[in-house]
Amino acid sequence: MRILAIETSCDETAIALVEATGGVKNPKFKIISEVVASQIKTHRPWGGVVPMLAKREHEKNLPVVLKKSLKNEKALSKSDVIAVTVGPGLDPCLWTGIEFAKNLSKKTKKPLIGASHLEGHLYSFLLANRKKSKSKKIFPAIALMVSGGHTILLYIESMTKIKKIGETRDDAVGEAFDKVAKMMKLPYPGGPEIEKLASKGNSETVNFPRPMIYHKNYDFSFSGLKTSVLYYLRDLNKKAFSPKTKADVAASFQRAAVDVLVAKTTRAAKEFKAKSIMLSGGVAANQALRKALAAESRKLKANFFVPDFKYNTDNAVMIAVAAYMRKLQKKKLQLKSQPNLNF
Ligand code: KG4
Ligand code: ZN
Repeated sequence: MRILAIETSCDETAIALVEATGGVKNPKFKIISEVVASQIKTHRPWGGVVPMLAKREHEKNLPVVLKKSLKNEKALSKSDVIAVTVGPGLDPCLWTGIEFAKNLSKKTKKPLIGASHLEGHLYSFLLANRKKSKSKKIFPAIALMVSGGHTILLYIESMTKIKKIGETRDDAVGEAFDKVAKMMKLPYPGGPEIEKLASKGNSETVNFPRPMIYHKNYDFSFSGLKTSVLYYLRDLNKKAFSPKTKADVAASFQRAAVDVLVAKTTRAAKEFKAKSIMLSGGVAANQALRKALAAESRKLKANFFVPDFKYNTDNAVMIAVAAYMRKLQKKKLQLKSQPNLNF
């Protein structure tokens, strides 16, 4: 099945053409083309994504990205279905993608299917290099999804049996990175900036709190950690705020956030006797997090799956994958914007 997938849930306009084969137990994907137009430069002066600006950019970018992703008109006629993200995400952005997809579906007479952005991030482990797997058995698995909008821990019994076991009660971890970066006058998006700065700092300088690390559940909370950084910076003598101090604060904050994510994921992996640990979402680009989770997976003799950098941040390939998995299971999503769609 050739799937033309469209993703516009936040600030990336992305279209991909993917060939999907295999059944629900062993799906395979061949990427024919993929194009992502990032809007970072548009939103950077505002320090975050401005929904109406994002909508305007999507409207402008969609026809251009479509043209780029299709080598010629024939490529469109050769696709079997069109897939579009219906949620979660920013309402005006989701609608823009859905309307564009609906028009394309009408024009080409190809069926249109809805996809979940979160399922896209989750199933992106299917795009990870699985050749180096420690054992052939993948399931049960524990998946940590970390982005600017979500921090979710999932128990995956099989390719289609997925249960949410925990999530953040306030800020998403990516949001905390972005907010701490803003406090330190770093540009948006803050995650990569904090990581860069942290690599030059000492993570043991400030002992920031590790919220909920010892709680018996699998929920997270990052708002208290963010506020601790705010107070620490506020109480710091202005003269003491040297580049060295800035790097130390970034490193200490990152350490605290990573410690909580890794501790809870590892505990879940032990408790559920997981054969694999999966990491996805924009924050999965963070090397400190990847390294720490990879090390814990090794200790547990579990596989560790993390997709390539480009499939962690928002893209349309993962939307094609998510749409295919839904199609195989005949589990349809309504073709309307669902900003709060969850597992
Ligand atoms: O998945 P994504 O591209 O978009 C959402 O669905 O939210 O994730 C974006 C988030 C932003 O908060 C960004 O700061 C964070 O991922 N991020 C990082 C890194 N790269 C991106 N956070 C920490 N370290 C990074 N290297
Ligand atoms: Zn995302």
